[in-house]
Amino acid sequence: MSQPDPQSRTHLVGLLLGAEEDWPTAFEQVLGLVGPITDDDGVTHHLTTERLTIEPFDLRQPVRTELVIDRLAYWYYHPREWLKKAALMNDTYLLNSPFTFQSMEKHSAYVALMRLGLKVPETWLVPYKNPVDNVRWAYTSAKYNQPFDLKQIAGNLGYPLYMKPFDGGGWRGVSRINDERDLVRAYDESGEMLMHLQSTVEYEHFARALSIGPETMVMDFRPEQPMHNRYAVSHDFLTPSAGRQTAAISRIVNAMFGWEFNSCEMLVSGDDVYPIDYANACPDVAVTSLHYYFPWAIKALVRWSTYCVVTGRQPRVDLEMRRYFDVADRDDLDDAQKLDAYLAIADEYLDSDAYWAWCAKHLSHLDEAVLQWAASPEFESLLRQTVVTTYPAHERDRFMAHFGGLVGAWVTDEKARLAAR
Ligand SMILES: Nc1ncnc2c1ncn2[C@@H]1O[C@H](COP(=O)(O)OP(=O)(O)OP(=O)(O)O)[C@@H](O)[C@H]1O
Ligand SMILES: [Mg+2]
Repeated sequence: MSQPDPQSRTHLVGLLLGAEEDWPTAFEQVLGLVGPITDDDGVTHHLTTERLTIEPFDLRQPVRTELVIDRLAYWYYHPREWLKKAALMNDTYLLNSPFTFQSMEKHSAYVALMRLGLKVPETWLVPYKNPVDNVRWAYTSAKYNQPFDLKQIAGNLGYPLYMKPFDGGGWRGVSRINDERDLVRAYDESGEMLMHLQSTVEYEHFARALSIGPETMVMDFRPEQPMHNRYAVSHDFLTPSAGRQTAAISRIVNAMFGWEFNSCEMLVSGDDVYPIDYANACPDVAVTSLHYYFPWAIKALVRWSTYCVVTGRQPRVDLEMRRYFDVADRDDLDDAQKLDAYLAIADEYLDSDAYWAWCAKHLSHLDEAVLQWAASPEFESLLRQTVVTTYPAHERDRFMAHFGGLVGAWVTDEKARLAAR
């Protein structure tokens, strides 16, 4: 009987997917460009990927998948519970942690960043408009629920303000409240959603940072534009200080909560950065929204997944919040020094220096390979497939030209960047 070769290892990266086809196909194609990697001990590593299916499972059953990129668990319990079993029982590495997304959503992320001294806008949580309807609650409510004056809370925050669910996502239930009439209507409509009231930030730029492992891209986001136009291709749109802060905050959030594939939305005015939404279990990575930034995002996902499985990075279920809070509580540091100290903890968690050194040693071919891929007929066909499934027939040529042009611009810029190295 043939023995497995101890000098050769195969690592399986699992994709737990919903309706998306574009980035998973791109991920599969780019992972195929990684090729075998021989480490310092002479072991050769091969990478494969598979789209996972949902099945009954024995809680003790071994899991073949070393790392999972998950897009389902936020909404569906069965895959979520499988992921949790795989993490606890089989050391499967997860992007992202379902544990913290389940227990600490947007609201906890607000609180944590407030504790770090960041400029989260003033936010109040108000009780349900329609609380649960059962006998026990009726008693509790009659005995312990304090009456409150919604109009007074809103008046103190000042109009306009935002009312949005404490665990929101996808703009569900978000409204901008201009006056008391809007307030009453929106609260009535909130029904069984638990709502925040939040003061409005007047901003110059909406920065959306996508962080994947130690890699971060801060993008100029325009929420008022249609989907295909929301990300502007603009570099250096922030002041150097705001640029540094936005990139740092995005990674700090991820390291604090164990999220390694997450986007962080920040409103920016001059050097002031106001984080408003940074718990996104399924950050948008569609080619039809990221366009220019899409090849980078896929490369980062491939690089980070490869690094994690080949180096045997240990998944961590526990958090290190206390380390951040200890920095927050120091009075000998100013805000900028605190941010640097948080980032140092985050980069330690994310292995940032080791990661970049490892990529330089083992994945240096990937930049050129991804450049060629983004200019290839294979990519064009992926884009065409996506455009055909996303837009009606009469708009397809226009959108092929739009996205093709933007990815083409990335190819030109990336060629120049690689030539200048
Ligand atoms: N405090 C605020 N000041 C100014 N604008 C805000 C504020 N809060 C929310 N908004 C606006 O409302 C939008 C939706 O809010 P938020 O991102 O918190 O909700 P969401 O449900 O997570 O939406 P999405 O999934 O689109 O990110 C933001 O993109 C922003 O344009
Ligand atoms: Mg948002």
